[in-house]
Amino acid sequence: MLPAGSLTTAVVLAAGEGTRMNSAIPKVLHPLAGRPLVEHAVRAAAGLAPEHLVVVVGHGRDVVDAYLRTVAAVLGLDVRAAVQARQRGTGDAVCAALGALPAGTSGTVLVSCADVPLLDTGTLGELVAEHHRAGHAVTVLTAVVDDPTGYGRVLRDHSGAVTGIVEHRDATAAQHTIHEINSGVFVFDAGVLHEALGRLRRAMGPPNSQSQGELYLTDVLGIVRAEGLPVGARQCADPWLVAGVNDRVQLAAVGAELNRRLLEHWMRAGVTVVDPASVWLDIDVQLAPDVTLYPGVQLYAGTVVGPGAVIGPDSTLSSCTVGAGATVVRTHALGAVVADGAQIGPFAYLRPGSRVGERAKVGTFVETKNAQLGPGAKVPHLSYVGDATIGEGTNIGAATVFVNYDGVTKHRTTVGAHARTGADNMFVAPVTIGDGAYTAAGSVITQDVPPGALAVARGRQRNVEGWVSRRRPGTPAAQAAQQAQRGHGDQTRQE
Ligand code: UD1
Ligand code: CA
Repeated sequence: MLPAGSLTTAVVLAAGEGTRMNSAIPKVLHPLAGRPLVEHAVRAAAGLAPEHLVVVVGHGRDVVDAYLRTVAAVLGLDVRAAVQARQRGTGDAVCAALGALPAGTSGTVLVSCADVPLLDTGTLGELVAEHHRAGHAVTVLTAVVDDPTGYGRVLRDHSGAVTGIVEHRDATAAQHTIHEINSGVFVFDAGVLHEALGRLRRAMGPPNSQSQGELYLTDVLGIVRAEGLPVGARQCADPWLVAGVNDRVQLAAVGAELNRRLLEHWMRAGVTVVDPASVWLDIDVQLAPDVTLYPGVQLYAGTVVGPGAVIGPDSTLSSCTVGAGATVVRTHALGAVVADGAQIGPFAYLRPGSRVGERAKVGTFVETKNAQLGPGAKVPHLSYVGDATIGEGTNIGAATVFVNYDGVTKHRTTVGAHARTGADNMFVAPVTIGDGAYTAAGSVITQDVPPGALAVARGRQRNVEGWVSRRRPGTPAAQAAQQAQRGHGDQTRQE
């Protein structure tokens, strides 16, 4: 595609407050498919490998900057933050970006917005390529959209040449009928941009002299054109790619579209999605062929699902790994690893540190945390498994609690291989149950159980004959008991 080094500078504008979000969180940090808006924009620009990648921060800059640092570290990028102390418009923001570059940086400058999250590297690359091919001083990325409300409109003369951009709020009634909008994404010759921004500043005089007291980047286009320099526009055929997010209605709309596209991608790659309308995926989820997703599934934050696995209905997995052929039904799971062929749910809750071995089972109403189940191990019903290691082939009886917390510290329980523990056990940690050991139903296990032993840790049963007729006479229980005894007597007479 593009020869390397063809883009000198990429600027991402992310300083705005995003007033229309009505949020305590800066707009550019609101997530879409598991990534903040600004990260979508930064990744798209970084894909062009510019010499300088500048993000303009301002509103909430401490949190935005901190986030950018982590992204830069993860992606191995050199991201420069330029501070726009007061948000005086997109033109002013670009001034701040240029100020953060080494003196005399020339070449080509791409400007994109942090609130246009679906723009991809390919589209940006085509814009830069077109700018170079046509020898423009400025090239703007536009799109024809059904509803242009809120966007800047692209003005063209009768020959079709671009003459300028007018903001929605400054447009005349006739201009409001224009459906070609400014995406907010431009490519400039650096020298031309410098010069035009300088003029714009001088023309505006002190801040607050225009309708919003802002310096519009969009005005640069008209200035450059008036100087007789070549100005161009490239229309993006897919309007979704340039959709801006100014409020939460747009955030939801763009989010739904991105999700639709992600699902389409995975379906084409061999994933069955029974009901695409009710399944949500984060952008970094990885799905193997022949995965089936039933209705009501949400897969978040880097979840990886292996071939043939079946997820859902109604399951939420975050940062989980699910092996080949595993099934996960009506489950909520965070940071869990489920090995090949394992069965989870229905109604399971896997918390961080849960590792379920091959063909192992975490069944109905079972919660696990920091727990390892060996291959084929089973916790089928109504149990809490916290801070435990359960060996291969072991079966944990229904309604078992791994008592891991003494009120101050957490302790571990180890159950060996092929053990059979009774229903309704308490394993009071720290405690170890040996390989092949059994425990009796209803036991409270406070001491280690040697391999192969049967542990019985419960009161012996005592039956007090006739207690009900003596102490609860006349009750339905007493009557039922008498009837049972009479019936028993009749039976013995007959014999
Ligand atoms: C802007 C464009 C509009 C275009 C639309 C596309 C201008 C004047 N208007 O309008 O023509 O159709 O984007 O989505 O450029 N920002 C700063 N500093 C500021 C102001 C904004 O960094 O002082 C950043 C914001 O964080 C945002 C981007 O610039 O990422 C665009 O700002 P926003 O206020 O959303 O502009 P729009 O009204 O959407
Ligand atoms: Ca916007």
